[in-house]
Amino acid sequence: MLTRFVSSTARRLIGRCLLENNYSVTTARLQCKRTFASSAASTFHGKSQYRFTHVLPVTASSTKVIWNDSLTADINYLWLRDNCQCSECKHPHTGQKLFDITRVPLDLQPQAIEMVDEGSHVRVVWDNDQHESVYDSHWLRANGRHFFINIPSESSKRNSRPQEIEWNQHSITENPPVMSYDEIKSSEVALYKWISLIHRYGVAIVKGTPIEKDFILDMAERIAYVKETSYGKYFDVVVEPKPNSHLAFSARGLDHHTDMNYRENSPGLQMLHCLKNNHDVSNPGGRTFFVDGLHVVSWLKKHHPSAFYTLCSIEVKFELTTESFTYNQTKPIICLDKDGNFSEIHVNNRTMGPIQAPKETINPFYSAYNILMRKIRDPELQYSLGLQPGDLVAFNNRRVLHGRSAFNSDRVSRHLVGCYVDYDEMLSKLDTLYGKGFFPK
Ligand SMILES: [Fe+2]
Ligand SMILES: [Zn+2]
Repeated sequence: MLTRFVSSTARRLIGRCLLENNYSVTTARLQCKRTFASSAASTFHGKSQYRFTHVLPVTASSTKVIWNDSLTADINYLWLRDNCQCSECKHPHTGQKLFDITRVPLDLQPQAIEMVDEGSHVRVVWDNDQHESVYDSHWLRANGRHFFINIPSESSKRNSRPQEIEWNQHSITENPPVMSYDEIKSSEVALYKWISLIHRYGVAIVKGTPIEKDFILDMAERIAYVKETSYGKYFDVVVEPKPNSHLAFSARGLDHHTDMNYRENSPGLQMLHCLKNNHDVSNPGGRTFFVDGLHVVSWLKKHHPSAFYTLCSIEVKFELTTESFTYNQTKPIICLDKDGNFSEIHVNNRTMGPIQAPKETINPFYSAYNILMRKIRDPELQYSLGLQPGDLVAFNNRRVLHGRSAFNSDRVSRHLVGCYVDYDEMLSKLDTLYGKGFFPK
């Protein structure tokens, strides 16, 4: 059955492996004196789960590897050589690369290639200098996804990060992303769970935090560190007698928006910590609400594809000018990643400047924007919270839109403290905790 994979190049290489190779599996193990820095299987989860069943050189530039769940990949030789994990090629303490791929021939081939350690590793001896590389099956699986040929349904879902979950009012109310501070303060597992919730839903609430003005910094530092902005390390959302710099510092309602679209990179993670909010049935208002931009954009793409593509392609200028600073930036309302999947949403009527686009695109833009905003304001999508003192809400500012209802500042006394953290810092913490053995749920 295996022979159907084997090309003439492969037969030649296999022949070399079997007949000309000076190494036997046993002697190769004995001669393998280098240490292998990050190929250590202990850094991967379920290390006993995945093993190679076959490793076959099949073309002049790649080898086919098959894992025990039938996942198959054609791994490129130059890529393999570039990613040798031995201590000569990769510094054992810093993990930084020492090897320079431009110093080997572009037609580099293995002199020998074989499974070792009962399929938990593949060993390669390179033909140009007889350098020996050993790759862990889990490392190759985690880093070589772009070489996968067939992806068993289970494997396709397996990722070190928990999957994002789209939500509407009904689904998030059924399963609210809420945790208690008591859990988080004393457990790394709970910290992992909190960050996972933020990543999966784009929003998560922690209840029962200390009602202290700069406590928000403590929470930010549990993830990474604060991203300082022109509003400082953190900012107070309170009613100012004369709000000069921002309408957030008034009692007006704030429509759905994302913050700081006028910056080169708008902040990824935002936190709001409630210190005071005495609204009640007789004095409503000042509620904080959220809408899942990921869900809205999926809906738009499915039901109004031309509006979706219009909002992905026409750049909008966002701007903010105060006495102290002047910012402007142009970007599409919907940003996609290199695979065409949702990446970011940028919405803020207060800071959206005059559209600068070809005149024939202006009507299509307003039409598409109208469809988007009507969907964003759909009551069935709103996750509305009457924040209580001690509640801390963290959300992905580039995915989830937020806003608040107006309130009567003569009757409702409201004080939130806000700050930002770079989203990639949060992902780094998520991945680091995952590396310690916490699994996504
Ligand atoms: Fe905001
Ligand atoms: Zn090496």
